[in-house]
Amino acid sequence: MRKKIVAGNWKCNTTLQAGVELAKAVTEVVKASGDPEVQVVVCPPFVHITKVVETVDNNQVKVGAQNCAAEAKGAFTGEVSAEMVRSTGAEYVILGHSERREYYAEDSAVLNKKLALALANGLTPIYCCGEPLSIREAGTQNEYVKKQFEETIFHLSEEDFRKLVIAYEPIWAIGTGKTATSAQAQEMHAWLRGLIAGKFGNDVAESTSILYGGSCNAGNAKELFANPDVDGGLIGGASLDANSFLAIVNGYN
Ligand code: PGA
Repeated sequence: MRKKIVAGNWKCNTTLQAGVELAKAVTEVVKASGDPEVQVVVCPPFVHITKVVETVDNNQVKVGAQNCAAEAKGAFTGEVSAEMVRSTGAEYVILGHSERREYYAEDSAVLNKKLALALANGLTPIYCCGEPLSIREAGTQNEYVKKQFEETIFHLSEEDFRKLVIAYEPIWAIGTGKTATSAQAQEMHAWLRGLIAGKFGNDVAESTSILYGGSCNAGNAKELFANPDVDGGLIGGASLDANSFLAIVNGYN
């Protein structure tokens, strides 16, 4: 059975102190009443990661970064490498988030370098994909996301592809309060699983976790997670409150 995952993407929020408190609170609530079938991940800002790794109980909560550099090391001022992330004890890294693609001009070439480095350093990439509103309105979202796959993760070997987690995040639903309907999420997830099956075969497709992201919250997680092809969520805003996040973690119950 494929893994169910609920990952919190804290984005550019929380001071170090507030982040450590949040990590503590998440660990406590997950320990006390989290669904043991769901892998919980928190992705704080880089500078919090070391402390957050020390704070969480690794058996309950894993830690990830929100990005990593496209270069292994060297004269790249301000960058944080995949190897550095891994050396903190973090195990995941979000790659290809639409905010990075849009605001920091991350194209497929850059993403491929990041994916290769993340995998080479033993990190699990949470690979994000998803269409903007104009594409959804034109009804060409399937082709749009297919192209994202073809330009990036479909270049990976089957062995490496098996290490990925996919997050489908329609851009029009991120931070807008406008969630994809449960049917829209299921439709896209099933299409993506079919694409993966076509490329790597059924076994790979059936074992790839595909998370939904975009205004997923305590109120709608249950309905979204009730879909057979939705294997959890990548959560932004609602991951900044431990109890809201817990309610999403328990969305399968
Ligand atoms: P949101 O963000 O839950 O605040 O919409 C999700 C994401 O961007 O990962």
